[in-house]
Amino acid sequence: MQIKKLTKNLAAAMTGVDLSKPISAELKNTLRETIAAHRILVVKNQTLDSDAQEAFSECFGELLHPVTRRPDGIRLPQTHEITNAAKEGGISNDQYLGATAFWHTDGAYFPVPPLYTTLYAVKLPPSGGGDTEFVDMRAAYDALPQAQKQALDGLQVVHSHAEKNLVSGARAGTMDEVRDAPPVIHPMIRTIEGTEQRALYLGMYAVRILGMPDEEARKLLAELHEHSIQPEFRYTHVWEPGDLMMWDNRSLMHRAVGNFDMDREVRTLRRTVVKNLESAMA
Ligand code: SIN
Repeated sequence: MQIKKLTKNLAAAMTGVDLSKPISAELKNTLRETIAAHRILVVKNQTLDSDAQEAFSECFGELLHPVTRRPDGIRLPQTHEITNAAKEGGISNDQYLGATAFWHTDGAYFPVPPLYTTLYAVKLPPSGGGDTEFVDMRAAYDALPQAQKQALDGLQVVHSHAEKNLVSGARAGTMDEVRDAPPVIHPMIRTIEGTEQRALYLGMYAVRILGMPDEEARKLLAELHEHSIQPEFRYTHVWEPGDLMMWDNRSLMHRAVGNFDMDREVRTLRRTVVKNLESAMA
């Protein structure tokens, strides 16, 4: 097995492992440690069907059941595809998952934000593109002036699946989604469990700040968002067939990049999200 850093501060690639078979305790530890060190991991040359990806993900904890509904009203299963392919063939105009194009962290609308996401390249656009982009919210926090860090400390942010349209332009939540995921509150600055590291916790679900007038809160959230997505905090993943990505949701935001011919070419990724049970029990 080989592990290679992809940038100075963020992301590593692993080769020489097969995640389609049960993994050893040693490999599981290595995967955890590599993600703790680099936050984003790309495991190369994998062949994973849905069951294999689910079994691999479950090695790290219980899987989250997303609240997002498909246009037919059915809730996405725990292991689900993000695709612009239509069920009946061809390209779909339904933008029900278009929200992934806005900066977010998966599952921020749950009381305990999840730990890992896994994303597997099922079908990539033949002409290229369809990247996934990340920002390092730890580096974004570290780069804030000291006085601003102090001013933000203690602020509590309301995250809402249903109201993500207020900041992102994604569609508003349906009645079922509102029922399944009422708004939750998270600190604006997260301390990553078991470390001294602090990170901004924002994204498209962050819609209000407790005790702050909405207009002022929206302005502050927008300013911090612009600060966080600066190029120096970014890693852009250019997918290759066989890539399985796995990342730490607690200190990153990510988004799907629309840099492919989405009216003609299919892009399908398969996702699982692993709950943060240690934190839930703390
Ligand atoms: C996601 O938001 O989890 C998926 C991102 C992508 O489709 O690149």
